[in-house]
Amino acid sequence: MDRTSTPEALPTATLRETIAIISQVMAPNVAKGVIRRRPNVVGVVERFGLDAKGIRQLQALSKKYGRGPLMLNVPTKRMAVILDPADANHVLAHTPEPFATDEALKRSALGHFEPKMSLVSHGEARQTRRHLNERVLQSDCPHHLFADAFAQVVEEEAETLVARTQTRFDELDWPTFQHAWERIVRRVVLGDSARDDQTVTRELARLRKAANWGFMRPKRKRLQQRFEQHLAFYYQQAEPHSLMAMLHHTNQEADSAPAPLQQVPQWLFAFDPAGMATFRALALLCAHPEYAASALDEVKDASPPSMDRFKASVLEALRLWPTTPLILRQTTQATQWKQGEMPANTSLLIHTPYFHRDERYLHAAHRFLPEMWLRPDGAGRWPLVPFSAGPGVCPGRHIVLLVTSRLLAALLRRARWALHPPDKLSGEAPMPGLLSPFHVRFRLERHSVESDATA
Ligand code: HEM
Repeated sequence: MDRTSTPEALPTATLRETIAIISQVMAPNVAKGVIRRRPNVVGVVERFGLDAKGIRQLQALSKKYGRGPLMLNVPTKRMAVILDPADANHVLAHTPEPFATDEALKRSALGHFEPKMSLVSHGEARQTRRHLNERVLQSDCPHHLFADAFAQVVEEEAETLVARTQTRFDELDWPTFQHAWERIVRRVVLGDSARDDQTVTRELARLRKAANWGFMRPKRKRLQQRFEQHLAFYYQQAEPHSLMAMLHHTNQEADSAPAPLQQVPQWLFAFDPAGMATFRALALLCAHPEYAASALDEVKDASPPSMDRFKASVLEALRLWPTTPLILRQTTQATQWKQGEMPANTSLLIHTPYFHRDERYLHAAHRFLPEMWLRPDGAGRWPLVPFSAGPGVCPGRHIVLLVTSRLLAALLRRARWALHPPDKLSGEAPMPGLLSPFHVRFRLERHSVESDATA
């Protein structure tokens, strides 16, 4: 792509188009809760198909303006939306210079509980903090050093979850699932003794609710302090086979530039979308029983068990319903594009559903396509970026895929599940623009699939 200097400015959306982008693309995502989801709003967005409308809005603009970035007509802030796949890849590959992760809106939200987190840092501070995250989460390694211990945690909690579902008239709803999921998350991140420490989760939830409002809401400093003391306790405990232990081992100087404890809230809160993706993937598997059976066979037949098909179903849940629908970057200097120049300090929006659901380029974009993730080239060069990409890619992605795929396998091995009502999602129909995990329910139809098979 020729990015040599062009003196012209980039095309700018009209005021009416800008309002349409803000109201149809940004507002539904902000209203859903950027840092902590608001279940009622998610239900409304699902019911009225607002996410699909947002995608159509951006497609119409890309038809009108062509492929380059489109500046928005916002008087108080420089903003642009990325419409071209190659540009999306370019921005993500050239992070953090000149496309910084430390974007103003993100900073105002995350500043409520992790102001020194790598995502909202820049320069040398970002480098050391990102490096610490990469080492603890073993960003490039599909099998974390503690993977077997994490898998054991998942098995134990899946057993308890199935038993609990049986006592609840064989119905699995979101609150029941979330209870088990949060136990898994606390054990993996903080250690086994945190299993029932709902206080730490609640403290973070309250901080995240405030963070949803960004700069519009004052910081809750006392609560933040209490939460940090709570984390410091688990850091000192450094329980074996927890991410806290790994952090303790990796970073001995608690007050140095990496700000170790400021990285931890991200791990705790980013597990939330992973739980949502697991629940949605379970719905996808119920709607595609043949694929579910093949995933289960794959687990049984291989030693060590292959989780690839279950991982692909989670990736599909994240492609169809991305949990980070807006990836934000901010330019640190003026940048040149084929279509013109973009000034410094412009906030860039990469709207992932627009790329993930683009039927102009992705055959059957609204169908369940797990095979795509099983190919050696994965999704190819098309920006399917549930975990972002490039130097800012999510360093927790392998842990996420490990824990979520293990949980799906553990649930399907122990019982046969069905969506309730069954027509909530159909393998015969296009997948809806949004599937609210808070409004999905399952029926446990038969216990112990394993014993069925061996009988
Ligand atoms: C389904 C679950 C998850 C998804 C979809 C996801 C996705 C993402 C995305 C898109 C980003 C980039 C955000 C940006 O550039 O603004 C990111 C960053 C990050 N994620 Fe995740 N994430 C998930 C779970 C996790 C978990 C469980 C952890 C830790 C255990 C984690 C650790 C991080 C960290 C540390 C960063 C910041 C990286 C940086 O500063 O460059 N994520 N994640």
